[in-house]
Amino acid sequence: MSAPTGYTRRQIALHWITLVLVVLQIVFHEGMAGAWETAADTNTYAFSTPVILHFAVGTLILGIALWRLLLRAEHGAPPAPEGEAKPLVLLSKLTHIGLYALMILLPVSGAVAWGMQIEAPAEAHEVMKFLLIALVALHFIGAVYHRFVLKSGVMERMIRPVD
Ligand code: HEM
Ligand code: HEM
Repeated sequence: MSAPTGYTRRQIALHWITLVLVVLQIVFHEGMAGAWETAADTNTYAFSTPVILHFAVGTLILGIALWRLLLRAEHGAPPAPEGEAKPLVLLSKLTHIGLYALMILLPVSGAVAWGMQIEAPAEAHEVMKFLLIALVALHFIGAVYHRFVLKSGVMERMIRPVD
């Protein structure tokens, strides 16, 4: 299979839907964090509205990430722009791997913490939340750098579909 020149309509839609869901999940975390504290204190793990919403959005992020990996395996992903510095290519690859890993490990750790009522995965969940925010920030800076400094057309690949 030769490498594609960009992403498909579906890959692009799922990428931007994920951005919205991740922002919602991080901004509206108070309800879940509060429910977790109460549950741990009282040893009663009730499915209140904030818990159901956090669980639903998190599971959606996981499902979409797995779907995107399948689409990527099927369609592939465009290569780095020609002539791009090797360290930058590596950094962007590692960032994408890290983002996919976190979109899977965050929901899994959250579900294990809640389902098994244990603290360790909840702590991992919190650490991974910081990692996700840091990686998304790096990813955003990379996209802006490509758009305005390198003017490489990478940003357009996530806007204009190839199909
Ligand atoms: C990518 C998906 C997810 C993201 C981005 C996310 C994000 C967050 C954030 C920002 C918090 C608040 C942490 C804090 O107080 O600083 C949190 C807490 C929590 N989340 Fe999630 N979450 C996700 C998926 C899930 C899922 C599917 C579950 C399953 C029920 C879950 C269970 C929990 C639990 C139990 C807590 C409280 C424990 C803690 O504060 O670490 N999360 N989550
Ligand atoms: C903050 C705004 C965002 C911008 C401007 C942005 C921009 C982009 C662009 C331009 C690409 C294409 C890179 C390339 O062709 O090499 C891309 C890919 C990607 N983005 Fe984002 N993104 C954003 C948010 C996010 C978020 C929140 C996530 C996940 C948590 C994410 C995960 C990914 C992944 C995993 C890829 C690689 C896709 C693949 O090759 O399969 N992005 N993004």
